Amino acid sequence: MTEPNVFTQYIQKRNVIVKNKKILQSSYIPDKLPHRTDKINEIVEIIAPSLSKDKPSNILIIGKTGTGKTAVMNYIGKELKKADPNRENCAFIYVNCEVVDTPYGILYNIANQIITDPSKRIPFTGWSLDKIFAELTAYIDTEDKIFIVVLDEIDRSFQKNGDDIFYYLTTINEVLNSSRVSIIGITNNAKFTEFLSPKIKSRLGEEKIIFPPYNVNQLQDILYERAIEAFDTELLDDDVIPYCAALSAQEMGDARRALDLLRISADIAERNGDNRVTAAHVKSAKNKIELDAVSEVIKTLTVQSKTVLMSVIKNTEEGMDVMTTGDVFTTYKWICEVIGQSTLTQRRVAGLISELDMLGIVHARVKSFGRAGRTKEIELNTPKEIVGMVKSDEIFKDLESYRPPKQTTLDF
Ligand SMILES: Nc1ncnc2c1ncn2[C@@H]1O[C@H](COP(=O)(O)OP(=O)(O)OP(=O)(O)O)[C@@H](O)[C@H]1O
Ligand SMILES: [Mg+2]
Repeated sequence: MTEPNVFTQYIQKRNVIVKNKKILQSSYIPDKLPHRTDKINEIVEIIAPSLSKDKPSNILIIGKTGTGKTAVMNYIGKELKKADPNRENCAFIYVNCEVVDTPYGILYNIANQIITDPSKRIPFTGWSLDKIFAELTAYIDTEDKIFIVVLDEIDRSFQKNGDDIFYYLTTINEVLNSSRVSIIGITNNAKFTEFLSPKIKSRLGEEKIIFPPYNVNQLQDILYERAIEAFDTELLDDDVIPYCAALSAQEMGDARRALDLLRISADIAERNGDNRVTAAHVKSAKNKIELDAVSEVIKTLTVQSKTVLMSVIKNTEEGMDVMTTGDVFTTYKWICEVIGQSTLTQRRVAGLISELDMLGIVHARVKSFGRAGRTKEIELNTPKEIVGMVKSDEIFKDLESYRPPKQTTLDF
């Protein structure tokens, strides 16, 4: 028996509903991928020749977030290893360009999955890109096989580094004698290819495969498959999975979002000490996810934007539910003075209000007064938890003891 400690009450209160939490994580690769058999077959058909050392076409996979692109490619990678366990004819190399996002990082990662001889490994830093290109090309050619290089989130690398690395990888076959390299690019940004040079664009996109968003029934099937493994499904109310699926289908048909909802719902139920997961838990999970998303956005705001938001908050607290840009600007100037910060012009502040509107943190509607002109009606559109978070920001600590100057608002 362990001695009682601060954790005891939580452990005793917590009911275990999820048998295997790992299965609900989005990094888990399931053995079955419902509703993606057609996409798997399309890709397999294109890359199958690699097993007899024929170079497959390059492929560009495009689809919104959570449509199973990464899961499908990882699944295919596993299957390819089963088909050619000793990598005699083809090697499958997977790189996530968001995680390793410099050209050096990407090449280092590819090279060290290919180069198995420890004495030939590429150092973590220090070489020029030309030198890595040369060594990698020479090494690849000694192997006499097909290399399938998957560049996941390929647009991330492009945004930061331009298309040099794609140029290298798509033209490498011109200098290779025995081996061949095929590229599979994955992106959730359909516009990304517009910015590539025409040559790279046509090479990367020799074959294009689109992953459509999942509909509500498909999301339900995906959730059921995962739930059967992760839960004692007796402990899930019947409407939990349909509800998670419906909420995610409404948004974008995103399976990651659906799984997050299910996982967080179960987590909330466990933490509450409840013995089943219900639709009420899903509702709380939805709120939690939304709140987390807004707080992430708030964290990235500049000090000036936060000050504009704080001005809207202060005005709202003073009873001004709807305000004009001028009202926000007056309070903004006052806050800048109290916290000792430079002031922007009213025009710039209006621009920051529009940005907050686009982020969904405030609501701004243009209101016309006929010949008297136009103004904006601005309202706070943020849950109280977020308001609390902004108010407790270190930069506003001097504001607490002050009240803004009285303002007379326009009568709407
Ligand atoms: N058909 C499916 N069957 C089972 N699980 C799936 C299916 N499609 C997606 N998933 C699961 O949903 C989550 C998100 O999928 P995945 O990571 O493959 O999305 P993605 O298309 O790569 O998204 P992003 O563009 O954001 O990277 C993962 O946990 C994945 O296992
Ligand atoms: Mg992905």
